[in-house]
Amino acid sequence: MISAESILDVRRPWPEAATLPPSCYHSPEFHALEVEHIFKKKWILVGRSDEWKEAGACRSFRLFGIPFLIVRDESGTLRAFANSCRHRGAELIARDCTLSRIVCPYHSWAYQLDGSLRAAPGMEHTAAFDRSDFGLLPLRLETWHTFVFVNFDPHCAPLAAQLGNLDEHLAPYDFENVVTVGGDEYVVKTNWKAFVENSMEWLHHMTVHKQSIARKVATIERQVVIGAPADYLLVRSQARGESRAMLESGGGFPVVSVLTGAAREGSQYVLLYPYAMLGCDVDSIWFKQMIPEGPDTVRLKATYCFHKETVARADFAEKAPMYYRRFRKVVQEDNAAMELQFAGLNSPLARPGRYAEREILVHAIDNWVVDHVYPDLARSPA
Ligand code: FES
Ligand SMILES: [Fe+2]
Repeated sequence: MISAESILDVRRPWPEAATLPPSCYHSPEFHALEVEHIFKKKWILVGRSDEWKEAGACRSFRLFGIPFLIVRDESGTLRAFANSCRHRGAELIARDCTLSRIVCPYHSWAYQLDGSLRAAPGMEHTAAFDRSDFGLLPLRLETWHTFVFVNFDPHCAPLAAQLGNLDEHLAPYDFENVVTVGGDEYVVKTNWKAFVENSMEWLHHMTVHKQSIARKVATIERQVVIGAPADYLLVRSQARGESRAMLESGGGFPVVSVLTGAAREGSQYVLLYPYAMLGCDVDSIWFKQMIPEGPDTVRLKATYCFHKETVARADFAEKAPMYYRRFRKVVQEDNAAMELQFAGLNSPLARPGRYAEREILVHAIDNWVVDHVYPDLARSPA
């Protein structure tokens, strides 16, 4: 159904390449390969550590059919576990909460926050039953500068191998002193790749964002960094003295005092493969998780953050909504474009297209996906 020729056309250098075949965006079979080769192998960003404020803070997740929970234990360590009771499998935590023990709602097996089984009522006469054999199943969890990642592959390489030299670009943001202040969630009828691609190209700005940011960003010079072999892409733009994070010019927060180098001079937008995007501006930080729920649905989680020196300002509560307003307006414009695009892509008459220069990172993303889904189809040197 998806021919090798059509995939090899994506492999050419971008000026000669064709875009991914449309069926890669809606085929359940292709999506199943992505789940197997990408989502169950890569480190996935799930949030920031300050979203678990105190010991016992617990959040439940379900990604790619896998329910899991992340809890902060008594020693302050974040831990991830399968959200399945070791007795007869019941889901343990249905919603975000704070607890001192994890108690199964079915027969009351009780687990400590480190996952060990503490009480198993009614098992006194069960032969050779040792509670220490029935702790919660741990998942790999690592934190990078407050960003929390999980990995469903118990044998995966450490997160550092996936992020490579990303620190060189992002260390100035002092994430340890950045505060998560809120967020929004949207469900969008599109494929996750279309969403990720949209986040990393600026050809659509003049059309999709003509009511919002188009004029403000039209003349910006951009530099791109392809992080390979690490799993990230980065777009850097010059600030020319103003924040990119607002619709209005002026009136925002001052540049965060600790920023240096490129972080002080402009914005940096980073795709953390497979589907998280981090927007770092001189006065604010946000990130998006573009979570696939099947081939045709994306749950978009947007999270807003500011440096603690900004949050401490007397005018924070007054001015922060300007930033949320800009973000929501732009996201809603993108969401509408995503649904239009998907309606057309999800047609038997859709055909591969071509890339423009401002879509070089779309070409990079599509090749990254092919690298993982069809590793045997040769990659062009460019
Ligand atoms: S399934 Fe959890 S205690 Fe029985
Ligand atoms: Fe956009």
